[in-house]
Amino acid sequence: MSLKDLPKVELHLHLEGAAPPAFIAGLAKEKNLDISGIFKPAGTYDYVDFWHFLEIYEAATSTLHSPEDYHRLTLAVLEESAANGVIYSETFLSPDFCGGRDLAAWREYLAAIREAADEAERTMGITLRGIVTCIRHFGPEKAKETALCAAETAGDWLVGFGMAGDELKGKPGDFAYSFDMAREAGLGITVHAGEWGGADSVRNTLSDLRPSRIGHGVRAIEDPGLVDKLAEEGIVLEVCPGSNVFLGVYPNWSDHPIQKLRERGVKVTVSTDDPPFFHTTMAREYDRLAETFGWEEGDFGALATDAINAAFCDENTRTRILKQLEPADV
Ligand code: ADE
Ligand code: ZN
Repeated sequence: MSLKDLPKVELHLHLEGAAPPAFIAGLAKEKNLDISGIFKPAGTYDYVDFWHFLEIYEAATSTLHSPEDYHRLTLAVLEESAANGVIYSETFLSPDFCGGRDLAAWREYLAAIREAADEAERTMGITLRGIVTCIRHFGPEKAKETALCAAETAGDWLVGFGMAGDELKGKPGDFAYSFDMAREAGLGITVHAGEWGGADSVRNTLSDLRPSRIGHGVRAIEDPGLVDKLAEEGIVLEVCPGSNVFLGVYPNWSDHPIQKLRERGVKVTVSTDDPPFFHTTMAREYDRLAETFGWEEGDFGALATDAINAAFCDENTRTRILKQLEPADV
């Protein structure tokens, strides 16, 4: 069996960040918007570093104006995920981009995204759940409005609350109010940390926001005591190696710490983050892991099981996906 066909679970995927560049270019053309500056001549996204990436990401997202646009985006993204063997995915959703944090508008965007997810489940056999995500560099006040959108729509589909954006802006504790509100609404908690910030950023995030999962978290490797803590407490890392290498957090795959973290007992999972921006797919991540660290089918099976066990979905969904991950009897 090729690695592409293995059933996969992805926990860390930004919906807008997964937009194929041709999809965004098509929307811009329909709406007569000139965003040609965000593309290279070959049609791929053009940026020079992480901070520029955040700007280009927001420029690409500026073409998405309506629930209907997000419906189309969700179908385009899930088609690509399903083609890579993904059977369960959690995606980051931002009320900042979906109606400017207005609750009534957010409900309409969410309904459109869910409708597309239901359609994809019927036609492509992929299950999607949502994680509302505040954006760190937009500041704590906007995060509170975002958390309110999350808390008001929490349920069997909208299952988590998170934070993305510029990790070097502000402190985790600035966002504690928002995370407390989300936790009280029953949402699972995940926070981007240990990507651009070092081990201290991960430690402060754990103590101030109490997530069960960390987005990236890889720079915890710089502090052996923190690595032990992650392992002992069963904190799950949503590791995105292709993203880290493309953005220059690590110079190449063999320097990436995923293997060391795993050997030290930390629960790692693998995701693509913003796949077209980083020229990756889940199948490519698997191929690089196999080439670089010698991971085999059994390793990937355990990886997918760990991921679904860390998913924020309800237990019936988890049991159903676990069944699909069982190797077929031959
Ligand atoms: N938003 C989209 N991708 C991101 C990343 N890798 N880190 C922080 N925020 C993001
Ligand atoms: Zn991310």
